[in-house]
Amino acid sequence: MLDLLITNANLADGRTGMSVAVRDGKIVEVAPHITAQAQETVDCGGMLLSPTFVDPHFHMDATLSYGLPRVNASGTLLEGIALWGELKPTLTADAIIERALTYCDWAVAKGLLAIRSHVDTSDPSLLAVEALLEVKRCVAPYLDLQLVAFPQDGVLRTKGGVDNLKRALDLGVDVVGGIPHFERTMADGAASVKLLCEIAAERGKLVDMHCDESDDPLSRHIETLAFETQRLGLHGRVTGSHCTSMHSMDNYYVSKLLPLIAESQVSVVANPLINITLQGRHDTYPKRRGMTRVPELLAAGVNVAFGHDCVMDPWYSLGSGDMLEVAHMGLHVAQMTSQSAMRQCFEAVTTNAAYVMHLQGYGLDVGCDASFVLLQARDPIEAIRLRATRLKVFRNGKLISTSHSSTAMLSIAERPSTVDWIQPR
Ligand code: FE2
Repeated sequence: MLDLLITNANLADGRTGMSVAVRDGKIVEVAPHITAQAQETVDCGGMLLSPTFVDPHFHMDATLSYGLPRVNASGTLLEGIALWGELKPTLTADAIIERALTYCDWAVAKGLLAIRSHVDTSDPSLLAVEALLEVKRCVAPYLDLQLVAFPQDGVLRTKGGVDNLKRALDLGVDVVGGIPHFERTMADGAASVKLLCEIAAERGKLVDMHCDESDDPLSRHIETLAFETQRLGLHGRVTGSHCTSMHSMDNYYVSKLLPLIAESQVSVVANPLINITLQGRHDTYPKRRGMTRVPELLAAGVNVAFGHDCVMDPWYSLGSGDMLEVAHMGLHVAQMTSQSAMRQCFEAVTTNAAYVMHLQGYGLDVGCDASFVLLQARDPIEAIRLRATRLKVFRNGKLISTSHSSTAMLSIAERPSTVDWIQPR
């Protein structure tokens, strides 16, 4: 007897009419038209069953603080950092926890069950670190929250920055972060990358740095990050986030850089909603898009994922935890409009993001955790087009969120009575 049997599902790889059998929270069989007794059966009706969404880059200590203590008037990255500096002294652990838990509720309802969040370690009290460690414990039954020790004000630029970051790791933060482009000089930025990678190597931690979030084509810390990854044998354990300066770099230099990144197995995370909003702010016209070179990185064999980065905080006033909205924006900004490229955008918020986080048991294969989302769309491209409704979200075989299908009722003579925006077949 199965605990759960999913039938008549389309899968992201193009298979149709598929069944997924679940026992004890794990997938035990994936095959067409399984007929077996189950405690519960869900007929997908030819809709897409996907592994749950994964956000590989977020800031949960700042989320849902929009308007506190004021809004970002210029909308720039630097005013956002300044505004965060104004907000930090007023933060309480309870407020951070409450906002983060609310965001996790939003995420679950959008089928987003794994989030890598940076947490600011610049404040010696480590208030935000302790708050998010508490959130991580609270949400563990339904959401994987991975934390990055993020020295927002610069690990070398801030007095005590290295000590604060190490204490955050001692408390149980999973990943070493950094922000080399915000250190005082290029040399300090490179020194911070070297230092932070050495800390990660000593402690057996992953690395994820905000790297070159700038329009300066000479901001080349990604080169140092890839080099240090190779030198310290951290292959596959390091991520460069944003890497927006690559948008503006010289093409010849990039032709040398891409193989270095690929050889070091450094993943790259673009944050389309934030990059298109924050980059190019010093430009008049033409105005640069600023997002990193996603198709070129993918073609070079680099793992590329998309992150949400911000929702309703000092840097970004919108968002709802919808990784399909992130994929939708990434598709547009990178002009990834071919069939295969649109599917890559879906992978950037599912499988590629899971690779960044080193998630165990992720996917729709036998032996994986039975965590998946049923979308009101037939395939990944339609899911992105519609930012499809998450009809059902399962975690380890248990239903944890349900949404009504998105349908409009029409009252027009001789036309259908309902509309659901699914492409007619
Ligand atoms: Fe970020």
